[in-house]
Amino acid sequence: MQAQEGKIFALGIESSCDETAAAIVDSEKNIISHVIYSQVPEHQKWGGVVPELAARSHILAIDEVVQKTLDEAKMTLADIDIIAATAGPGLIGGVLVGWEFAAGLAMAAKKPLIAVNHLEGHALTPRLDSDIEFPYLLLLASGGHSQILVVSGVGDYKLLGETLDDSAGEAFDKVAKMLGLGYPGGPIVEKHAEGGNPEAFDFPRPLCNQNNCDFSFSGIKTAARTFLNKTPEVNAADFCASFQQSVIDVIINRLTNAIKAAPGVKTLVVAGGVAANKKIRAAMEKLAARHDMKFAAPPLKLCTDNGVMIAWAGIENFFQGNIATEPIAPRPRWPLAERP
Ligand code: KG4
Ligand code: ZN
Repeated sequence: MQAQEGKIFALGIESSCDETAAAIVDSEKNIISHVIYSQVPEHQKWGGVVPELAARSHILAIDEVVQKTLDEAKMTLADIDIIAATAGPGLIGGVLVGWEFAAGLAMAAKKPLIAVNHLEGHALTPRLDSDIEFPYLLLLASGGHSQILVVSGVGDYKLLGETLDDSAGEAFDKVAKMLGLGYPGGPIVEKHAEGGNPEAFDFPRPLCNQNNCDFSFSGIKTAARTFLNKTPEVNAADFCASFQQSVIDVIINRLTNAIKAAPGVKTLVVAGGVAANKKIRAAMEKLAARHDMKFAAPPLKLCTDNGVMIAWAGIENFFQGNIATEPIAPRPRWPLAERP
């Protein structure tokens, strides 16, 4: 396949947590190929991601994942116009593997290299699938982060609120672990919650009486622990449904404040792993409708970590001229509003 006039092809590489992922996306929003090697089975018995195991596993997988991505696209590196990789935030061992691999490829193939902030990958992915325009109000909820932002352009992010302790995804993961249901917790808890009674357990709604956009999920987690200490044999469906409802209520309460704080913004968006939760999506869609806002969310398969989001954020940054021209040190912590 040849790069056509005006259209560019990006190879995106993601390795910041427990997925070794790569994808080829073009600037006309087509996903040409998309490969994810999930390490979940390797971490399952530990009940969460073990950073050293993850880093080692990325080293073993990355070559094959990238080759498979090129093969599925029937392309070689010569057909690729830009190479984008996650340079943080995340588990630094894994980030280093993906970033250095991408930097090596870019140098060898003489292609522009783009350092993508993983959060920016999540934040811009909704634009790949729907024609949403800037600005939009974004709930970015993943395993590592819970933030509400106004996204006014590529690189133009205003933080309205964020978690003071755990992230939303972490809360799902910890509750699943307490119930002995496995890892990652989000999809498992969502599944168990189906058919459960969301009012069976009285979980708290932290910060909901406060006039800001911050989150706190550790109180919900502590409540879960306290319930389980009192009654170890709970009905998992009711427990999961009640927990999930508390998270939804908190999200909607916080977003209601955010909508007031950003009156001109007419689109509401959710992204990050937690955006894969259908009940959360549905509640946000209703909230948007009540405020005459449009609602957008990435397709389910693009909510959790993947290479597509990195390739797409690479394209958006390339068109802004954000190319890495000197060596970049990957960062375990990297606030979204800062350039690499
Ligand atoms: O974005 P992501 O894949 O990785 C990070 O950047 O952290 O998000 C992973 C998080 C995990 O905590 C996982 O439990 C959560 O997203 N998650 C979900 C669902 N699917 C994944 N949370 C709630 N409901 C889901 N369906
Ligand atoms: Zn993520």
